Amino acid sequence: MRALMPGWPIAFLAVVLWLPGSLPAAAGQAAVATAHPAATAAAREVLEAGGNAFDAAVAITATLAVVEPYSSGLGGGGFYLLHDAASGRDVMLDARERAPGEASRDMYLDDEGNPQPELSVDGALAAGIPGIPAALDHLAGQYGRLGLDETLRPAIVAAREGFEVTPMYRRLAGFRREVLAADPVSRETFLADGELPDEGAIIRQPELAETLERIALDGRDGFYRGELAGRLVDGVRRAGGIWCRSDLAGYRVVEREPVVSRFRGFEVVSAAPPSSGGVAIAQILNTYRALERRAGELDDLSVPGLHYRVEAMRRAYRDRAEYLGDPDHVDMPIERLIGADYAAGLAVGISPSRATSSASLAPVVTEPEGPHTTHFSVMDSQGNYVAATLSINYPFGAGVTVPGTGVLLNDEMDDFSQKPGVPNVYGLVGAEANAIAPGKRPLSSMSPTFVRNDDLVGVLGTPGGSRIITMVLGGVLAATRGEPVAEWVSGPRIHHQYLPDRIEVEPDLLGDEQRAELEAMGHEIEVKDSFGNMQAVAWWRDGDRLEAASDPRGEGEAVVFDPEVP
Ligand code: DON
Repeated sequence: MRALMPGWPIAFLAVVLWLPGSLPAAAGQAAVATAHPAATAAAREVLEAGGNAFDAAVAITATLAVVEPYSSGLGGGGFYLLHDAASGRDVMLDARERAPGEASRDMYLDDEGNPQPELSVDGALAAGIPGIPAALDHLAGQYGRLGLDETLRPAIVAAREGFEVTPMYRRLAGFRREVLAADPVSRETFLADGELPDEGAIIRQPELAETLERIALDGRDGFYRGELAGRLVDGVRRAGGIWCRSDLAGYRVVEREPVVSRFRGFEVVSAAPPSSGGVAIAQILNTYRALERRAGELDDLSVPGLHYRVEAMRRAYRDRAEYLGDPDHVDMPIERLIGADYAAGLAVGISPSRATSSASLAPVVTEPEGPHTTHFSVMDSQGNYVAATLSINYPFGAGVTVPGTGVLLNDEMDDFSQKPGVPNVYGLVGAEANAIAPGKRPLSSMSPTFVRNDDLVGVLGTPGGSRIITMVLGGVLAATRGEPVAEWVSGPRIHHQYLPDRIEVEPDLLGDEQRAELEAMGHEIEVKDSFGNMQAVAWWRDGDRLEAASDPRGEGEAVVFDPEVP
């Protein structure tokens, strides 16, 4: 290298040095934001022991699986957006659940072809094949520095010694009390004599600790093969599910190219299908940009800015319903959907003064509610960073814990479209592209995202069902306005998902006058209770400063610290 360098033009070196991955990390610091203080502490422990952001991601994932059983777990899946500083590469690690081999297109319909919604939400038939254990193994093996024995230790301790019941635990366990009480192991583990445990009560999961120990010892095989796999299949089938050993042995995570778009001089990197997030965010930003070219720069929080944002959302969610699904099973016009020409065409159909009626665009949907799932963001002192959104879908997933494993099953099968036009629990509809098929991954809204320019590296995401995409979009817009990270995660939210045809807003977003103006344009507005639980970290490169923030709506914790790596 040294021999080659003298002849090379300085300009070329400058370009190489400006590649995002080749920049030195901020002031030797690390930043972590997760939805639970125990997971933030686990990340800190691992980073201080010389682990990198990927090791921290393993520790956080496993700890959240223990202390937020309503949000994510070994029985669930998710997407990890990774930035590897050494190569400068961004990768999406797809650990989404897959439909079991015995799954079939009409499995949740009765003899008359009517949907039986509870079958895809409560009980073992609702569970897809989990991806999280394979993701832990992949992160450690391909990207980490430490062994799983070290990075899983905090989670194992938390599972064995227990964690305290919080107000959020009580709220979500209350929401799912009946389904938890109906399953003997869930009842024993997560309730107190079938009732909600008191705040401060201790929840211990010794069988989950053993399962984590198996994974620490044998990696993915400790979960997907051998004795534990046998217990999982027996337990699921006994509870009415359809898992087979071959489904578990055949599960693979997939590395995919993230979806990248450009907006106001920022690069926005987000989740690829089977998440709809990156495509929808790119489409909304492109449409908004096309509208800005017509209307001049928009104030994002003004009436015209909100009107145009909502119209762009409406169209992106319509296309989501029609086109998106698992890329390993369906062909999707992704390049067209995220292209500038397509957005320019959409912008032409948007009136500056009138809401478009969703019915005039195409068919589908109903009511969305966003209970739980989790997100974390972490950055290490070497400039590696991870945004990960993980889920078991509904609070406490399917409500069933498999005997002898501590594994709480997901109900992610509900994210498939069970019948064209029939909404899932988030009111989202879909078409053929997201129909159930053996081995297929259900379409997701989870959108771990990076937003970057020369001055900023932002890492963010949130749970929230169908509203994830529009919340992340709000965070991205706040980042492009140069706001501090605390504002990205706390700012008031606005959502439209094509159908139902109405804007959902948090109480603080609109003043009376703004609301009246939007209604006069033809928008229906519903004020909702607050939603989301965003976790974000940022590296402001000009001041060489890290920031981290945890959504004040949740119980999370964000820290910036000097890991003092030995
Ligand atoms: O993958 C999805 O889109 C959903 N299973 C996420 C669920 C969720 O965010 C629930 N949260 N509050």
